[in-house]
Amino acid sequence: MIDKQSPLPIYYQIEEDIKQRIADDEYRPGDMISSERELSETYEVSRMTVRQAITNMVNEGVLFREKGRGTFVADKKIEQPLQGMTSFTEDMKSRGMDASSKLLIFEQITAPFDIARKLQIDEQADVYKIQRIRYADQKPMAVETTFIPVAMLPGLSERVVQGSLYDYIEKTKKLQIGKASQMIEATTADQNQSSLLEVPPLSAILYIERNSFLTDGTPFEVVKSSYRADRYKFISDIYRA
Ligand code: GLP
Repeated sequence: MIDKQSPLPIYYQIEEDIKQRIADDEYRPGDMISSERELSETYEVSRMTVRQAITNMVNEGVLFREKGRGTFVADKKIEQPLQGMTSFTEDMKSRGMDASSKLLIFEQITAPFDIARKLQIDEQADVYKIQRIRYADQKPMAVETTFIPVAMLPGLSERVVQGSLYDYIEKTKKLQIGKASQMIEATTADQNQSSLLEVPPLSAILYIERNSFLTDGTPFEVVKSSYRADRYKFISDIYRA
């Protein structure tokens, strides 16, 4: 399995071998992998080399460690296409996962300056501030803070935002969602985010800001989301002009 004459580093060959076993379903998400000692015997390499391979895979999000228990195979990351303006509920449904939310904040506030500008509303105008933890199959995926002009959706309730906001806007309010501009940035989880997302402090986070518009060009939401980077990767097809 391991070719010590190969120019490929040995830790890299071990990583490739373990990844292949995961791809072949020999190891499934949640399975504990063999201990460093066992792996070093199997591959006939030093424990340090095994540790290097494992650490790389933990950093990549392929494996995760649990103190005092062992090292386990992580769930496969969700591949989120960058094209297409979908909702969290749709994203999860299309993968056969169950979407749910925990509502942390639901209040009406005077629009903060940057939000008023993005929503093209008066600075004195009221907005809903909604903060939700989004779960897929009961596992936390993201924390989202959404700002919506109150005048756009009068009567919005806590019950509604526990479900799909886009569903409510389109099906109940009969408004047509048109497009969004979106920004994605790498950050790390602060104390609060790490406890909400159930990840260690300073874990990698994909911070996404979405500014969404109805088909007539009216802005209807500004959303600041923090997605777990160990659970998400973004994919797109690109074309050479
Ligand atoms: C995604 C987007 C958000 C959007 C949300 C709506 O999570 N990042 O910008 O507000 O979907 O989701 P739902 O309709 O499930 O409430």
